[in-house]
Amino acid sequence: MKTKSSTTRRQFLATTSAVAAGMLLTNESAAMLLNNSSKPKKVALVGTGIRGMNFWGKISIQNYADEIQFVALSDINPGRLQFAKNFLKLDVPTFVNFDKMLDEVEIDLLFVTTVDATHDEFIIKALNKGINVLTEKPMTTDEVKCQNIITAARNSSAKLIMGFNYRYGKLFTKLKKMLMKKEVGEITSIDFHWYLNTYHGASYFRRWHGEKDKSGTLLLHKAAHHFDLLNWWIGSDPVEVHAYGALDYYGKNNSFRGKRCMDCPHTKECKFYWDITKDEMSTNLYVKNEQYDGYIRDNCLWREEIDIYDKMAVQIKYANGVQVSYSLTTYSPYEGFRVAFNGKKGRIETWEGVPSLNSIQEDQAKLHEKEMDHSSHTKSDLKYHEIVKQINFEPYEKIQLPYVRRGHWGGDTLMLDEILKNKIVDPALKHASNQRDGSMAVLVGIAACKSIEEGKMIKIADLTDLKPQVNKWG
Ligand SMILES: NC(=O)c1ccc[n+]([C@@H]2O[C@H](COP(=O)([O-])OP(=O)(O)OC[C@H]3O[C@@H](n4cnc5c(N)ncnc54)[C@H](O)[C@@H]3O)[C@@H](O)[C@H]2O)c1
Repeated sequence: MKTKSSTTRRQFLATTSAVAAGMLLTNESAAMLLNNSSKPKKVALVGTGIRGMNFWGKISIQNYADEIQFVALSDINPGRLQFAKNFLKLDVPTFVNFDKMLDEVEIDLLFVTTVDATHDEFIIKALNKGINVLTEKPMTTDEVKCQNIITAARNSSAKLIMGFNYRYGKLFTKLKKMLMKKEVGEITSIDFHWYLNTYHGASYFRRWHGEKDKSGTLLLHKAAHHFDLLNWWIGSDPVEVHAYGALDYYGKNNSFRGKRCMDCPHTKECKFYWDITKDEMSTNLYVKNEQYDGYIRDNCLWREEIDIYDKMAVQIKYANGVQVSYSLTTYSPYEGFRVAFNGKKGRIETWEGVPSLNSIQEDQAKLHEKEMDHSSHTKSDLKYHEIVKQINFEPYEKIQLPYVRRGHWGGDTLMLDEILKNKIVDPALKHASNQRDGSMAVLVGIAACKSIEEGKMIKIADLTDLKPQVNKWG
């Protein structure tokens, strides 16, 4: 039997969590996300793989020594952990046991750069201890883990920050500005199509990303970037998702397969043969440390265990009525994308990497390397990004933007500057992203996977207790 007091308590909890949820709707600026203090923040990193070590580790040490100081590193692979410690020239303790690190080391901020499906464990444990977290995308890979993170963030005094670097990219920011100014009127629909080439796209199928229980599929691992861009551009929350997806090219779809590239009998006939021993970093990080966890970095992309999709088509309806047609292709001859915003007064469109639209043909094998690179000497032969704006009944106008590809369209540096140095590009752009943004991006991917599996439309509101809002910024 319900007592009056228990009902009242439940009502109180419902009210306070609604208030808490409402508070999370405000997209806090980076200045609010990390409390400023004159002392360098004590930072620990879990996941000393390529992104953790080469980006969060190396770049932070090089460029943010006044703001942060590494105090510990953690990874389940002791060999990779030691390699990262040496590579970063850090004199800090290392931990194979993450809990031990949290118990023994005083930490202000944790960088989470482990395999996607494990992010939730580290995010939640740190938040429960009042430690701020900066996590790589995707925030997590299923709706149960997502709800657990939402609850932990609500109950914690600490902040969860998403590393959504694409938002800060110069081209994507220019599009956001044009949309905020309503240059083609109210946006009603968006066409967004992303193409991964047979080098970069294929690499996902060699790695842990090819298994759903680790990456949640590329609808989470890769498309979380794209869904976050859409959510941010549109300034409203997704409400309904319908998707198709299949594995048509990689995995089981080949007549031959080997155990791994290194000892494969099909190197002559396989167009995807990759000699990992010619890549010093991959050899040091992965091959030399296989003995500890059995992870094969040059795995066969025709292996039968691959259970993610390599072609994906997603329809998304937003709370403000905007409709999105999104697709992700992973075996394209070129790497790039096309995006178009259809407004009531006209259309804005742009693209990248479509060779027939560019005056030059780029080396497809090197494109992803350029995107990840941070050195200032990396130059592109392309001079401009082109955005085409056309108002209804008028001729088109071409807008040229200096071409930047390295460091994720220039976004990596701007993101780090904002989060770690509190150097905000423009507060009105609301680049900084929090737990709610991380959730909304992954919920689109999770809904898309469910839609593919169950053959029906999925409502975002049915996945967690986050309620989609018409206008988050209002
Ligand atoms: N934002 C971006 O542009 C970008 C680019 C690349 C990678 N990433 C993200 O960075 C993360 C790491 O990717 P990566 O390419 O470096 O992968 P990786 O395989 O090189 O590294 C992952 C590391 O996590 C460790 N790990 C796995 N499970 C663990 C556990 N339970 N406890 C502790 N450590 C564990 C592995 O041993 C490995 O060292 C992923 O979440 C990925 O999505 C983001």
